[in-house]
Amino acid sequence: MKTPVDIAVTGAAGQISYSLLFRLAAGDLLGPDQPVVLRLLEITPAMEMLKGVVMELHDCAFPLLHKVIITDDPKVAFDNVDYAFLVGARPRKQGMLRSDLLSQNAEIFLVQGQALNEVASRNVKVLVTGNPANTNAYLAINRAPDLAPECFAAMTMLDHTRAVSQLAQKCGVPTRDIKNMTVWGNHSCTQYPDLHNALVKGRPAFDLVDRDWFVDEFMPVVQNRGTEVIKTRGQSSAASAANAAIMHMSTWIHGTEQGDWVSMAVPSDGSYGVQSGLVFSFPVTVRDGQYQIVKGLDMNEFSLEKLRRNEAELIEERQAVKHLL
Ligand code: NAI
Repeated sequence: MKTPVDIAVTGAAGQISYSLLFRLAAGDLLGPDQPVVLRLLEITPAMEMLKGVVMELHDCAFPLLHKVIITDDPKVAFDNVDYAFLVGARPRKQGMLRSDLLSQNAEIFLVQGQALNEVASRNVKVLVTGNPANTNAYLAINRAPDLAPECFAAMTMLDHTRAVSQLAQKCGVPTRDIKNMTVWGNHSCTQYPDLHNALVKGRPAFDLVDRDWFVDEFMPVVQNRGTEVIKTRGQSSAASAANAAIMHMSTWIHGTEQGDWVSMAVPSDGSYGVQSGLVFSFPVTVRDGQYQIVKGLDMNEFSLEKLRRNEAELIEERQAVKHLL
């Protein structure tokens, strides 16, 4: 039997975790012969509820679930972890200003960034899902000077899979026939789901769909899908978000397929004119556990304008939390 691998999940009593934890314990991330230790972080008032989730985890008798640790101390949760899913965040309440949401969540991610810096494995992969995900990741990186910024990413994989699915449905093909989809920018409705490089069975997407569909249907459907799910289901995306978190981390570990890429929000290196350091969703390939931004794609004025809007929004978010740094 292999040595168990430690995985931290924050917000472990929440909706997304209610799907994510069971998939991690079933081996969906690391495969059928890798035991795991789940280190689950919650705020103190949610510990009772978390105990109920842990009862259910044990009741599944997962052969790969070596141990479950629950705690309200980030340093216990992140102790020597190789993988950390930062899911827990404060939800936006009615009447709450965006700036309040930003600063309340900023405090969480500053504390967690510092704890990761102190106790996590030096090669940890940290995926920030809790919103506002890009700026939360930016803050965590800021408080983790001893970890490489490349240890962090924020999740735009759900936007990516939504985009892949919309194009596949439109073209009447299975999702595996869609390659080189890109979602640029912020995980917000400003995001830019882009078809200019997308391939459908090896053919450019724009051979099969017209620009009107792209601008008037595809883009707004992907950008507003989260809101639509809330309106229809009465709760925000949970199983699909957990699936995206597994897919993001799994791609980060195992790599992208030859001839394809995925979308990940990662620290900008100035590519495509995006200010360095901003956590921005780019097309990335992954080899040997390291992501690389896909360079040199041709960008028309329409696309560049969308990138600039996303950059401006992220600069504004950063400005709103600057006083906390
Ligand atoms: P939820 O409200 O059901 O669960 C959040 C959990 O986080 C709660 O149990 C809460 O007690 C916990 N929490 C709050 N502060 C914490 C802290 N300091 N440490 C540890 N745990 C803490 O929310 P849900 O549906 O699970 O979503 C979680 C986050 O993911 C939200 O911010 C949501 O907006 C975001 N999200 C992001 C997506 C993406 O694509 N990036 C997609 C869907 C959701």
